Amino acid sequence: MSVPVLTIDGPSGSGKGTVARLLAQRLGWHLLDSGALYRIAALAAQRRDVDLNDAAGVAELAAHLNVRFVGEDETCVLLDGEDVSLLIRSEQAGEAASVVAAHPVVRDALLDFQRRFAQAPGLVADGRDMGTVVFPDAQVKIYLDASAEVRGERRYKQLNEKGLGANLAQIIHDIRRRDERDMQRPVAPLKAADDAHRIETSFLTVEQVLTECLTLMGV
Ligand code: C5P
Repeated sequence: MSVPVLTIDGPSGSGKGTVARLLAQRLGWHLLDSGALYRIAALAAQRRDVDLNDAAGVAELAAHLNVRFVGEDETCVLLDGEDVSLLIRSEQAGEAASVVAAHPVVRDALLDFQRRFAQAPGLVADGRDMGTVVFPDAQVKIYLDASAEVRGERRYKQLNEKGLGANLAQIIHDIRRRDERDMQRPVAPLKAADDAHRIETSFLTVEQVLTECLTLMGV
């Protein structure tokens, strides 16, 4: 029997990380933060002096990543046993992730690994191509969006809360550049699946988005 999968895609700062985590908690399902995998692939490359533009070199590392998501809500990320949860959250790590994520061979190297997260009783998968490429047969697909300004402000707040200092104008600028790279790349570009439900979150609270997602799932 196939395991139920809920995909949540959208650009950086659309709220998908928070919404995915809370939905997984409410449903008692597993969580896949696919962005963390690209962030970790970039970190592993930087640590081994592999150029982020060396697609084959990064793919080789990505294929053999020793990554585990642990903790009650599966949000603590271990790379070779080291907790890198905070390290991979910086804007620089996001930017590096977006560079390696544009290589088709890197995406291929992570595909099966991501699909193995679909374990009973269910999976909430958060990313850019969850509904289009990784889980095209997912039961429910959601695409969250918000304006670049709102997303920048959310990211600014998050980074400050984590003690990672930030500049709002710079963040909005970076978000736009990252959106463009993620949307323009030829393989698995950021876009809503044809059968995804789009939710514009700019003027919604997290609770309102959650309620809308649960309603779409018939919960
Ligand atoms: O979601 P997050 O900001 O952690 O993702 C970091 C980067 O990883 C994104 O900008 C995107 O380039 C890449 N990514 C991707 N496909 C995914 C998840 C993330 O290409 N499914």
